[in-house]
Amino acid sequence: MRIALYPGTFDPITLGHIDIIRRAARMVDRLVIGVAINRDKGPLFSLEERVALIEAECVQLAEETGVEIVVHPFENLLIDCARDVGAQTIVRGLRAVSDFEYEVQLSNLNRTMNPKIESIFLSPDEKYSFISSSVIKDIANHGG
Ligand code: COA
Repeated sequence: MRIALYPGTFDPITLGHIDIIRRAARMVDRLVIGVAINRDKGPLFSLEERVALIEAECVQLAEETGVEIVVHPFENLLIDCARDVGAQTIVRGLRAVSDFEYEVQLSNLNRTMNPKIESIFLSPDEKYSFISSSVIKDIANHGG
């Protein structure tokens, strides 16, 4: 069974994340959305709210793709979470060149810790290239 883990803080999930989930779902039998508790980032939405928002989106995505999509909160190392959920692959989104350096560092560190789990990168539709959760919150906060 092909299982992939798509991790993030998802504070909140955006159309850009959904675009990546849809693309990743085409490649696997089960997609696990790993929701990092990430207390250091001081999320606006509680873990329960972030999970509920993702689950609400994933019902339709699962029907659309015919793939099992599971939401899994985690607080340990990403690479250990991937092992725990049985994922062979970690999926990350690459929106622009600026994401690249950080993502390569992350994937190299993760590979050092567990060479059996591979990272793959998917790029969202270009109309979502400049979306981030912070920007969405900022616009909403200012009435946009
Ligand atoms: N569409 C829209 N936004 C996207 C996106 C996409 N396709 N891809 C990334 N983003 C945005 C996110 O919304 C986020 O925005 P924000 O900073 O404004 O909130 C930003 O890009 C960064 O996203 P991401 O790189 O996914 O960071 P994250 O905080 O969501 O998640 C973890 C990072 C959870 C993967 C990382 O912290 C981690 O692995 N934690 C576990 C601990 C660990 O293993 N550490 C060692 C790593 S070697």
